[in-house]
Amino acid sequence: MTTALSATAALRERAAQLDSDDALAGLRARFLLPPDVVYLDGNSLGPLPAAVPAALDDVVRRQWATGLIGSWNAAGWWEAPLRVGDAIGRLIGAEPGQTLAGDSTSVQLFTALDAAAALRPDRPLLVTDPGHFPTDRYLAEAVARRRDLEVRHVPPADLPRFLAAEGERVAVVSYSPVDFRTGELYDMRATTRAAHDAGALALWDLCHAAGALPLDVDALGVDLAVGCGYKFLSGGPGAPAFLYVARRHHAALDTPLPGWTGHADPFGLSRTYTPAPGIARARIGTPPILSLLALEAALTAFDGVDLAQVRAKSLSLTGFFLRCADELLAPLGFSSVTPADPGRRGSQVTLRHAHARGLAVALAERGVIADMRAPDLLRFGVNALFTSHRDMLTAASRLHDLTREAAYDPAPPTEGPVT
Ligand SMILES: Cc1ncc(COP(=O)(O)O)c(C=O)c1O
Repeated sequence: MTTALSATAALRERAAQLDSDDALAGLRARFLLPPDVVYLDGNSLGPLPAAVPAALDDVVRRQWATGLIGSWNAAGWWEAPLRVGDAIGRLIGAEPGQTLAGDSTSVQLFTALDAAAALRPDRPLLVTDPGHFPTDRYLAEAVARRRDLEVRHVPPADLPRFLAAEGERVAVVSYSPVDFRTGELYDMRATTRAAHDAGALALWDLCHAAGALPLDVDALGVDLAVGCGYKFLSGGPGAPAFLYVARRHHAALDTPLPGWTGHADPFGLSRTYTPAPGIARARIGTPPILSLLALEAALTAFDGVDLAQVRAKSLSLTGFFLRCADELLAPLGFSSVTPADPGRRGSQVTLRHAHARGLAVALAERGVIADMRAPDLLRFGVNALFTSHRDMLTAASRLHDLTREAAYDPAPPTEGPVT
């Protein structure tokens, strides 16, 4: 007890010092967060950016109500998927004209996996991470079934060995740079290079990376990438996802969902499909304008922000939280599954505890919103745009207190999403 109290006092002092040196502290005002909540679930659903309500109000009351159908041109609705795509492109290191916003991550993944396989027609293997997010695994299986390919599940650490043995049969490798459970960061550069050395394509799911750390898809030679708009980009629930395809593949890109808006002359209403030039050929149908324009407004939270600074602060926050966990929570049975090495850490810390679900529920009741992944992982997502070191200590202290007091239900009901 005394030890925890003195550890907390020292941690409080350290948090205050780190927060007073924080050059990004002012960015918190770009989000409308409830004052008494510590929000560590921005890697699931980003909070509301302050720019969004007024922008959506304008879209609805002026552009839609007054401009009516003329807003497709006058308000730039038609070009929105490409314009918002380029805004995301700036965050992932993509030159304009290679990123498209719209549809869900799952739809974009299907498009990307299928189009990648079509670009390497004589290769029968599709390689993915056995620990990949379920939708990535399901869609890899679906594309493989339709194209008569075989899926191989290869953990990231085993990929070089696998490619050395079977690389020439591989069409595409599909991975995420950040493990959604543990927060482990993988080496995008090495994996992309290993895929290319084998003559395969590299496809990345950037859901847990876009907006959280600097990315350089063009410079790394990434072939295709997808990512969602609702996590670190804070575009809102169900925000449109994005698809990046490197320019060198555009001319040959054969997408599995050739809808009319991806046609070279969509209003010519031709009987046959001719793909538009560039990334526009990956458009499918009428875009969800309200969601796209909410996402566009949300992205202004990154205006003038250097992602290298965001990364440095994120590592400081997660590093500090790991110290809090070590000093306050390890004695109570928590262990971290997130690498302590900053070079191998994304923007979250995951702690293991047998009662993760009950603890997440009790923490939320005490104003700390984190989440859990079954059966025993408690995830603390860190968005450096609005999180402070004090927030991290508050989360660790409240978790310490409610665990010590056993003030939680060890087996709460499991129905419905737990956030
Ligand atoms: C890595 C990854 N890919 C995809 C998704 C979700 O896909 P969708 O946006 O289609 O629901 C998630 C959701 O958490 C994810 O973590």
